[in-house]
Amino acid sequence: MKEVESLKTPVWMQRIEYIANPVGYWERAYRADPDAFWAKGIDFGCPLMVFYTPEAAQEIIENRNGHLSTTSFDSELKAIFGDSSFFTLEGIRHQQMRKLLIPMLQGKHIQAYGQLICNLVNDVMQIVPAHQPFSVLEVAQDISMQVMIKLLFGSYHQERYQQIKYLMVEMVSLFAANIAGIPLFFRFLQRDLGSISPWRKFLQQRQQIKELIYREIAERRARLDLKWEDLLTLLMSATDEKGNALSDEELLGQVLSLLFTGNESTAASIAWSWYRVYCDAEIKARLLAELNSLGNSADPLDIIRLPYLSAVCNETLRMYPVTMFMIPRLVKAATKINGRRVDSGVLITVGTYLIHQREDIYPDPKIFNPERFLDSRFSPYEFLPFGGGIRSCIGGELALYQLKLALATVVSHYQLELTNHRLVSPQRRNTILIPRRLKMTKHTAL
Ligand code: HEM
Repeated sequence: MKEVESLKTPVWMQRIEYIANPVGYWERAYRADPDAFWAKGIDFGCPLMVFYTPEAAQEIIENRNGHLSTTSFDSELKAIFGDSSFFTLEGIRHQQMRKLLIPMLQGKHIQAYGQLICNLVNDVMQIVPAHQPFSVLEVAQDISMQVMIKLLFGSYHQERYQQIKYLMVEMVSLFAANIAGIPLFFRFLQRDLGSISPWRKFLQQRQQIKELIYREIAERRARLDLKWEDLLTLLMSATDEKGNALSDEELLGQVLSLLFTGNESTAASIAWSWYRVYCDAEIKARLLAELNSLGNSADPLDIIRLPYLSAVCNETLRMYPVTMFMIPRLVKAATKINGRRVDSGVLITVGTYLIHQREDIYPDPKIFNPERFLDSRFSPYEFLPFGGGIRSCIGGELALYQLKLALATVVSHYQLELTNHRLVSPQRRNTILIPRRLKMTKHTAL
């Protein structure tokens, strides 16, 4: 049986390559073996095997023989969220939490937020100064953070939520630069090294956010009103089969992970979609014509069903899947994936970025071509921006909703222009791929 191989360079060099140039790292692995590799540059506390064929993705997602399980592992996410977040839950507790949250993030619950999302996009865009370059990622982050705050907390203590939002954005940005992000990847650097160390600042900010969220929880515990329809109320009122409610620490972990994931990935996707649409006048004109066909004041539910808009958003998520790979699964008993032996105790994952770049599925994969999503249907193992199976993204529907409505709102109402037409390559920020220096200029509202 063919073994999965590592790249030939030393592990420390691979680690630096992964931090500095993740896309280059993946592409080098693909050239070495078009199916799978040992990703020794990524430190999860134990070896990580990455598979990137649709067949392997199907085996991992379906997990038919039950040999794969969710597990808690050391990663930069643990450094950010601590031990009680969604990403560190395993087994029954993990399933319970998914069962609890998924219905709140689907169907009519999020559809009710359509108009709010469009209004928030307009509010944010209106304060962007005209005729001067703005950071697309910062604007997108503002939009998605406001949506997530509203969904999580409702609108009871606006001032506190704005403080949480501010601190969260600051904390996430602390490790945004490649160099500053290094402590997230090397545990020995996760120490307070004095007043100017980013880790000290990170700990202080995390502490401030924790205190604000704990204060919110304490006040709600004193007068929990079940008529409130926000996610925090739902989480606080939920119990498991034994009648146990979530502890304050668990609540904090979930709130932090939702705030972080709900914001970072969605913001990056929104920024990538604007970049691609404003790069290509034909795509933009076609999208605008489709949006105009709905007339003024279209219903958000009609907007999100538009075929070309959907194709543009799918192509954005294909080319820039934001999270380069799925959350690793633990191999409980030795098994075979895609004909390769995988031993017990190993972590395995699906390399989404590399599947989305496969020439045999997506001809000319480096070309942004929304038409491919109009002409063909791809299986959930060929197109998988939200992963699949036991750890699939619980916020995918909400994310797509925001992505489509944010794009539709700016294309219909604002005249924007890229500050320059140089190619923007994906760069790593924390765990995701972002258009780091993407800038646009707003001319006038249309
Ligand atoms: C475009 C935006 C987004 C993308 C591309 C994305 C992608 C992903 C991916 C690939 C995974 C791992 C799936 C797997 O391993 O099978 C994931 C997990 C997760 N996502 Fe998202 N996500 C997005 C937005 C969101 C939003 C808006 C939320 C929250 C409202 C969210 C919450 C989560 C959570 C909690 C998990 C962990 C699930 C678990 O451990 O069971 N995501 N996401």
